[in-house]
Amino acid sequence: MKFPLRVAGLLFAAMSFGQAVHPVANMFRPRATPAESVFNISMLMLAICGAIFVIVAGLLAFTIVRFRRRKVDDGREPAQVYGGNRIEIAWTVIPILIVLTLGMATARAVVEVQNKRMPVDALKVTVIGRQWWWEFRYPDLGVVTANELHVPVSTVAQPAVTALTLESIDVAHSFWVPQLAGKTDLIPGITNHMWIDPRQEGTFLGNCAEYCGTQHANMLLRVVVEPAADFEKWAAAQKMNAASDPQLESARNTFLSLNCINCHTVSGTIAKGTFGPDLSHLMSRTTLASGMISNTPGNLHAWVKDPQAIKRGNLMPNMQLNPRELDEVVKYLSSLK
Ligand code: CUA
Repeated sequence: MKFPLRVAGLLFAAMSFGQAVHPVANMFRPRATPAESVFNISMLMLAICGAIFVIVAGLLAFTIVRFRRRKVDDGREPAQVYGGNRIEIAWTVIPILIVLTLGMATARAVVEVQNKRMPVDALKVTVIGRQWWWEFRYPDLGVVTANELHVPVSTVAQPAVTALTLESIDVAHSFWVPQLAGKTDLIPGITNHMWIDPRQEGTFLGNCAEYCGTQHANMLLRVVVEPAADFEKWAAAQKMNAASDPQLESARNTFLSLNCINCHTVSGTIAKGTFGPDLSHLMSRTTLASGMISNTPGNLHAWVKDPQAIKRGNLMPNMQLNPRELDEVVKYLSSLK
């Protein structure tokens, strides 16, 4: 009995550890319709597999006890049985029924989620997978951001569906926010679709769920679900041109004179690059490097100084800025609210 107990203890410890690192990345607490479908199928699966486990383990335990070696062994063999049509039919038909039940329940859930007709007022977002970060484009709002997807909360009075169009610029990725929906791949040359209707405000964590290279594990994402009014406010601020504080003119000029502008966009300036994340409102994001580190002045400084030291292999090179340039670039970026 000790061993199974220890295994259960280890499993429980592993689960609690996971909770501490990702307090909300838990598919067992669904907060949107697609995630609920996944959850319901998982529970059905768990119930059926649990019942099979109990029956098989129970029969095994019974057999071990009932037919254990006795102190007094009379040496006789038990009755020998060859075949049994009824038993064989049973253990063929029962598994077929189980597979059919699970298959049909899964197919129903998949069809329900996939064929849902998007309401005309659905918020449209294009998600572009990149090594190793996420670009979010809101075509109707004229907003482009990275790694932190903002969407309105869905309430009974004001249902809000966000329709995601998924594309990839390089290799295959997979968009997965366990509390909101199942995984959907982002494949180069193919456009996939999914949707979410989060019913609880808060920040929901997700990961890339398809191996896409060295920093796959650090391709993290956040979905910020907020009241409709807050979302509107956020979108309006994102739509504006980047802040341009006259006092930071020298810092801005330094930034605009460097190669940064070939890869990054800062709206309202000559920086129009599209290889890297849009920096127009960098300070509105809570993390840097696709969720790896929090967006603090110290981390930003370290990132600009040498991104490779933080996220090895990522496409932003060490620009070898001198101390003055580094300070000015960080100062300017810190002003992009
Ligand atoms: Cu992108 Cu794994």
